[in-house]
Amino acid sequence: MAFVKNAWYVAGWSGEFEHQLHRVKILDEDLVVYRTSTGEVAALKDRCPHKLLPLSKGRLIDDRIECGYHGTTFGADGRCTRIPGQPRIPPTACVRAFPIHERHGIVWVWMGDADKVDTSTVFDLPQISDPAWDGHQGDALHIKSSYINVAENLVDPAHVTYVHPTTLGSASHANVPVEYETKGDPILAYRWIRNAPPIPFFAQFDMFEGNVDRWQYFYLHLPSTAVVDFGSADADPDSTEDRRHEGVRMFSLHFLTPVSANYTIDRWMHIRNTRVGDEEFARALDESFRAAFAEDKDILEAVQVEEEKPPTGSRIQLSIDQACIAYRARIAKLAEAEQL
Ligand code: FES
Ligand SMILES: [Fe+2]
Repeated sequence: MAFVKNAWYVAGWSGEFEHQLHRVKILDEDLVVYRTSTGEVAALKDRCPHKLLPLSKGRLIDDRIECGYHGTTFGADGRCTRIPGQPRIPPTACVRAFPIHERHGIVWVWMGDADKVDTSTVFDLPQISDPAWDGHQGDALHIKSSYINVAENLVDPAHVTYVHPTTLGSASHANVPVEYETKGDPILAYRWIRNAPPIPFFAQFDMFEGNVDRWQYFYLHLPSTAVVDFGSADADPDSTEDRRHEGVRMFSLHFLTPVSANYTIDRWMHIRNTRVGDEEFARALDESFRAAFAEDKDILEAVQVEEEKPPTGSRIQLSIDQACIAYRARIAKLAEAEQL
């Protein structure tokens, strides 16, 4: 499956970048990323146009990179500022600079055509900056599987029962049908599980006395950002989609960075409307998420290994695959349009 280039991808959490050279691979392309002395993040193609030494092997001098081979020096905008022993700087002596947008502690990089950059399309969620909600960054989970496989997993409520029986799932929802909205962006798969015991994830914190209504809304923003809105409220026949905020509601956000065709980094964070400001609680949630996402990683890496073997039979499609099918088709279309 091809990559979609005209999109913003997460290069890292803000805390990952300091005033030093850092190599980052996105869409099979190596970038050298660093924070300048004024605090901005710069990203350049990690290859000197002279003998192709990666610039990340050079030195950062003030805010410029001096190549580690012959000292040619480039500014944060990719322009060459110095060639030792040669006064004339040819106009071709430059490296590609990638647009960066940093917000909410996340560094996004634009991997596509320079004339299509639009910062209004960087993913945002109003709750991230709402003081009534508490956001918390988790980990950068490295998964040896394609971003398509990882993204599919994040628009697939049906797997939760089987992959996460001790954390996010429970047997009581195995047969609850999933609904889909596949025409828009994000693609959505969701379901409600009514009048059932709380999942272990919530039960461990003693949040509910009796049965609850639970929801799982899996939003997949093209090309590779997922928002899982899940929560529970005391069982009530009147609880509806627009009353989710009255319950204990959480978002788990997954920013998928396709590193290469079969390697993805899932930077995840969570946002909640309960126990706001309680850091200890946030760390306990981290632990539960960490355990659950390790279960996904295990599945996804095993799937990737099988995918890379010679095909020996056809796959079946199930009715739970509607969002995945739509997602693959949409990605293929976006990637194809970029080739024209
Ligand atoms: S390889 Fe960079 S200056 Fe020669
Ligand atoms: Fe999962």
